[in-house]
Amino acid sequence: SLIYLNGDYVPHEQAKISVFDRGFLFADGIYEVVPIYNRQPFMFDGHMQRLQNSLHEVGITPPLSSNEWRSILTHLLTEEALDHAILYLQITRGSEFPRNHSPSPDIQPTVMAYLVPFTPPVGEPTPVRVELLEDIRWLRCDIKSISLLGNILLKLQSTAGGAQEPILHRAGRITEGASCNYFIVKDGVLITPPADSLILAGLTRQHVLKLAADAHIKVREAAFSTAELYAADECFMTSATREIIPVGQVGQEVIGNGQCGPVTRTLIERFRASRP
Ligand code: PDD
Repeated sequence: SLIYLNGDYVPHEQAKISVFDRGFLFADGIYEVVPIYNRQPFMFDGHMQRLQNSLHEVGITPPLSSNEWRSILTHLLTEEALDHAILYLQITRGSEFPRNHSPSPDIQPTVMAYLVPFTPPVGEPTPVRVELLEDIRWLRCDIKSISLLGNILLKLQSTAGGAQEPILHRAGRITEGASCNYFIVKDGVLITPPADSLILAGLTRQHVLKLAADAHIKVREAAFSTAELYAADECFMTSATREIIPVGQVGQEVIGNGQCGPVTRTLIERFRASRP
């Protein structure tokens, strides 16, 4: 596929960066994942806002404006002839020799983006099994950082046990997944952890909260415990690439009746109807 790299478009075999890039040496960078339906980015402004937040939090000056990102996206969509796609974009602090923890003030960011083909989910949703694991990551999970070793270790641990994804907790409070947010439904109320620094504020999460309000579903952004998770009527995960996926089982425990529940189903229907 075609790669946008520091102002150029190059075939992926020719897209090269320095071994002294701070992304490679320190995982010193941030990223975004934007879903595109029918050639239109979904919640583009929200993704651009979160990108600005991540850059601000790590002290990288935004190398491109939202309009520039939009033209890069248009160029990639045209060249790749894709209707549905996932835009991956990444900005690292840049490259300099020799390796030094302190970056020099005039370092130039490395900017990269490309499209992955995407098939928007259709048909009956299949409930998945997740595994409850302790959240061993750092305390700035609100930054969409490329430093994902904690997430990767937890993902590996959950998939080794045959689960699709971990569901993480800190001292018994649910946070999120390795690459998704979680919701539960109890007595008709939709509950999801608050968007504090322990989770990434998912754009899909935000959209689901709006869809729930539109459907007159009661919503609470509040911490919930592992006990409340096991006692939930329904549970589902959200992410840009997976939209909404029902959770039928946590470890060996069945959630609700193990099927896709009515609130989850309503939200999936409304989500699909809201896609561009
Ligand atoms: N991950 N939490 C984490 C830790 C994530 O990595 C993601 C997304 C989310 C959901 O955010 P959103 O709804 O905006 O996709 C929550 C992306 C998809 C990824 O890393 O590929």
